[in-house]
Amino acid sequence: MWRFFPQKNKYVQEEAEFTFDSNRAIPKHIAIIMDGNGRWAQNRRLPRVAGHKEGMETVKTITKHASRLGVKVLTLYAFSTENWKRPEEEVSFLMQLPVDFFDKFVPELIKENVKVNVMGYTEFLPAHTQDAVTRAIEQTKDNTGMVLNFALNYGSRAEIVTAVKDIYAELKKKDASEEEITETLISDHLMTGFLPIELRDPELLIRTSGEERISNFLLWQIAYSELFFTDALWPDFNGELLEMAIAAFQNRDRRFGGLKK
Ligand code: FPP
Repeated sequence: MWRFFPQKNKYVQEEAEFTFDSNRAIPKHIAIIMDGNGRWAQNRRLPRVAGHKEGMETVKTITKHASRLGVKVLTLYAFSTENWKRPEEEVSFLMQLPVDFFDKFVPELIKENVKVNVMGYTEFLPAHTQDAVTRAIEQTKDNTGMVLNFALNYGSRAEIVTAVKDIYAELKKKDASEEEITETLISDHLMTGFLPIELRDPELLIRTSGEERISNFLLWQIAYSELFFTDALWPDFNGELLEMAIAAFQNRDRRFGGLKK
């Protein structure tokens, strides 16, 4: 946190130290913007895609760690509707990643009782990516533990536009009035609408790599999320850093617009 000191007319970055406590509240839904794969690779003079490959290993580590901590939903931003602008070679590598990931990791996901879901405009993904996703969802559908929710070809503004169009069509069909438009109805029509209502909105949003922006991710759902930014590049993110983010969450005073308890 950058604190402002008016006497010095200066911002100073404050060191905050929290200790993770597994007996305190664990966020039920954690969302992560996994950023910094490219820089991780460039720092090692490797091609950018090497960072994505290493990032995939971090996805495995964090999935297991989050599941064991008792997180109920882990939403990972794996590919945005804007990522198509990247060089073709990088896009095709990113489209192959879910295939490799699910092919190798599904047995472990089953062992961990993790259920896979994918949200986004998946119909525009290449057939091999769609097939891998469909298979993983099918293979883990009976699991009852954490939901591992990949945002793939996802963009929040597009998601909201789609939801509004669907709501408009439904209301028109029923000849219903605008009075029926409520926050719950909108939430029902977003891509997180498949989750029970109390789990739809992340309690904690993490972004790695030192960037402090939201980049069109879950704009509606993060209305009251706690935000945690870390300099760590995604391939360097690990269980200990996840616990640090949760420790910061545990020390926040969540008021939801009300007053301190
Ligand atoms: C952002 O880093 C990362 C991405 C656009 C892709 C994220 C994908 C993974 C972490 C692997 C996903 C794994 C599965 C199983 C789908 P960046 O390339 O923008 O990094 P930079 O900002 O340093 O260039």
